[in-house]
Amino acid sequence: MAKKLFIRTYGCQMNVYDSARMADVLAPLGYAATLQVEEADMVILNTCHIREHAEEKVFSELGRLRLLKQAKAGRGGLIIAVAGCVAQAEGEEILARAPYVDIVLGPQTYHRLPEMVAQASRAGRQVLETDFPAEPKFDHLPPPRAHGPAAFLSVQEGCDKFCSFCVVPYTRGAEYSRPVAAVLAEAASLAGAGVCEITLLGQNVNGYHGEGPDGRGWGLGRLIGAIADLPGIERIRYTTSHPRDVSDDLIAAHRDIPQLMPFLHLPVQSGADAVLARMNRQHTAADYRRLIDRLRAAQPDLALSSDFIVGFPGESDADFASTLALIEDVGFAQAYSFKYSPRPGTPAAAMGEQIAESRKDERLAALQELIGRQAVAFNQGCVGRQFDVLLDRPGRHPGQLIGRSPYMQSVFVTAPETLLNTVQRLQVVAANPNSLAARLLEPRLLEHLACA
Ligand code: SAH
Ligand code: SF4
Ligand code: F3S
Repeated sequence: MAKKLFIRTYGCQMNVYDSARMADVLAPLGYAATLQVEEADMVILNTCHIREHAEEKVFSELGRLRLLKQAKAGRGGLIIAVAGCVAQAEGEEILARAPYVDIVLGPQTYHRLPEMVAQASRAGRQVLETDFPAEPKFDHLPPPRAHGPAAFLSVQEGCDKFCSFCVVPYTRGAEYSRPVAAVLAEAASLAGAGVCEITLLGQNVNGYHGEGPDGRGWGLGRLIGAIADLPGIERIRYTTSHPRDVSDDLIAAHRDIPQLMPFLHLPVQSGADAVLARMNRQHTAADYRRLIDRLRAAQPDLALSSDFIVGFPGESDADFASTLALIEDVGFAQAYSFKYSPRPGTPAAAMGEQIAESRKDERLAALQELIGRQAVAFNQGCVGRQFDVLLDRPGRHPGQLIGRSPYMQSVFVTAPETLLNTVQRLQVVAANPNSLAARLLEPRLLEHLACA
């Protein structure tokens, strides 16, 4: 009988990609995915270390799994594995605090999961694999299995930017770009399996500089162009980018490549130069504004998203006002915002002038109120417009489908189920704060559908 694998994923899209790849690696051992943790023979928690809150969730989930493991003892048992960025940062501590955990593995070693499972079952001892292997895991992974019309594809991993608040350079390691040929092979295999929308992933994705077939380093703009040429790929996105690494080629790609969606998530973190300098972001607020101007000149329809941190050490009222002013000037379609969370081992955690929690709460509320207003305005500006939406989920109500607009909003439409997993032309009829309602225009004929 097939064994059952349950994976819980925390954190960013890279972790979502990694979770799917871990399932691919374990499939030949007879593990099939389950959504019911109670029936699992193996559980993987794929963890995130970015903020303290993310880390706490892992330990409380482990407490619940311990009880499940006890209940299953004698009935084949339960293998518990902790993967991802908490595992990388705190492997030893997890093993000590949770002795019932069988395997702790970092983000760069999961191609070796079959050996780890064998070791854990055979020897009955805890396995810890958190080194950064010289050979990238990508060389050892099986071809990906597609799950629906949209897929993630990791092209770049790790980060050399060392923003002073961030754990990613420590948990994911140094920047690495996959060779162009490997990326194109994976994209073609996804397209062959019915995928029509690919999101290219990297912790610093626009720092991509993979080796091309010509032996030269290719930037992200050129890579996007090559993926756009693959038959079946109708839509391309990428995330997450750093303002320092937006090249002329990438800006030109937004102008020239119709498959590249008019949406860019470009974290700025703060609008105050003093804060940006202490964050080690290597750009000023004026640099960011200029960059946005150049991007909008190339693609006037570009919708923007960003990340903000409030309450970074030493952030004054005037600094925070500068962040609000930058948001007013740029105008975002959406954004993520976080209270600064001191992370062990990062330079900012040791800085003086840590900001009181109550002050962080006030600033977060003010920033989110402004971003919320901008998002509503952006959504309202879409009413009456027509655009192509990849309908990839059933809606909450019968007869309803949901998809993503080119600008990443959720769009609801009444449409027959046969149109699930297709790209359809819709007209927006109403805007909500977090979604759009639309009506179906003439359904695209089946023979024209790239991903049926
Ligand atoms: N490049 C990564 C960024 C991961 S971190 C990616 O691919 O997503 C995502 C966001 O979390 C950052 O842009 C930043 O706004 C926020 N963040 C990172 N470290 C943080 C910390 N210590 N406290 C609060 N927010 C943080
Ligand atoms: Fe973290 Fe900065 Fe690298 Fe983004 S660019 S992953 S925030 S260190
Ligand atoms: Fe979290 Fe690691 Fe992603 S810390 S945000 S899972 S890179």
